[in-house]
Amino acid sequence: MISKNGQAERVVSGMRPTGRLHLGHYHGVLKNWIELQNEFDCYFFVADWHALTTHYEEDSATISDNVWQMVIDWLAVGVDPSRATLFIQSRVPEHAELNLLLSMITPLGWLERVPSYKDQQAKLKERDLSTHGFLGYPVLQAADILLYHAQSVPVGEDQVPHIELTREIARRFNFLYGRETGFEEKAEEAIKKLGKRGAKLYRNLRNAYTERGDHEALDKAHALLSSNQNLSNAESERLFGYLEGGGRAILSEPESMLTEASKLPGLDGEKMSKSYRNTISLRDDPIRVEKAVRGMPTDPARVRRNDPGDPNRCPVWQFHHVYSDDSTKAWAEEGCRTASIGCIDCKQPLIDALLKEQAEIAERAKPYEEDPTLVRSIIADGCERARETADETMEQVRSTMNLDYY
Ligand code: TRP
Ligand code: SF4
Repeated sequence: MISKNGQAERVVSGMRPTGRLHLGHYHGVLKNWIELQNEFDCYFFVADWHALTTHYEEDSATISDNVWQMVIDWLAVGVDPSRATLFIQSRVPEHAELNLLLSMITPLGWLERVPSYKDQQAKLKERDLSTHGFLGYPVLQAADILLYHAQSVPVGEDQVPHIELTREIARRFNFLYGRETGFEEKAEEAIKKLGKRGAKLYRNLRNAYTERGDHEALDKAHALLSSNQNLSNAESERLFGYLEGGGRAILSEPESMLTEASKLPGLDGEKMSKSYRNTISLRDDPIRVEKAVRGMPTDPARVRRNDPGDPNRCPVWQFHHVYSDDSTKAWAEEGCRTASIGCIDCKQPLIDALLKEQAEIAERAKPYEEDPTLVRSIIADGCERARETADETMEQVRSTMNLDYY
């Protein structure tokens, strides 16, 4: 996707390193990332500070191991560091700085109302989540996103309220700090730099938008500003902000890009999740995988081999939907309904497909497992790129808040 200024749209997403990745992550999130990286300017990061909001009591070595294993998993399934910027949140300290500044302007009530706050506290009863850090989770997430001026954030349904909050925080920030004294005069000065024709066009488009809500005019005005070479960054931002009536848009409001939930359930038919112990890891032991599939529950009506079954009541059938071609699916469905195959037969093609996939992933992970410096240097590069972008944003943020007096 190409945005108005001719550059690929920016996408930012993070993943918490709270354990080894499993097939649910692969079919839910990672496959999506792999597609996005071809179309967008993607920033994918390990949200290790976010992991600490819930796992602060855990042995910190576990988190650091999870971080590196997670990056290996990303690379092994095809997340490509030459297409996407891969980095670790805590290695870009600007996330913490922006988090701090945003926390100053975020009303407590906004955070208490985020559904995940109470949901997670209720769900993770064994952890004490009455902490400042956990309440502030969405503020840190807002910082992650706003630092990079992300236009889109691929997230699951549960995260949509966090993106909505991010938009509200950005709006509040722009409202509080984007209105410099003499803003209108400065905007008028900047308009003159567009040249006679440009200035006239800008004014017409601005009127069309502010008076008639003409969004096409707004798009045209954005294009006009993006293509102009005479404006400084500050002037250009000012004119972007002026279009919509308010101050400068220092932080850009992102949209959420809803990721479809994984079609692959856990081994027991429930959602695949570490806490349900029903997962297959991305780099699992082949013997365990085979055993796990053989042990999967099936349609309870098929007590004996001769009892016909209903695939729709069987988690194995959902695995077929993800892993089997049409003819295998037809064979399994027919065989199940007529009891011409047993459940062991039905599971075999799945075992084959899973083991083949596991072998491919293991093969691609191997060089990274054998030589940890490979992963470290990929991440070092990514962190450097991320910091460049983050740094630019922070300079604007500090100067807008008049925090650049050193
Ligand atoms: N909160 C996200 C999750 O639990 C992880 C995350 C942290 C994130 N920062 C982000 C996702 C920024 C998208 C953008 O899945
Ligand atoms: Fe499930 Fe296949 Fe057994 Fe039918 S034959 S109950 S689909 S495992």
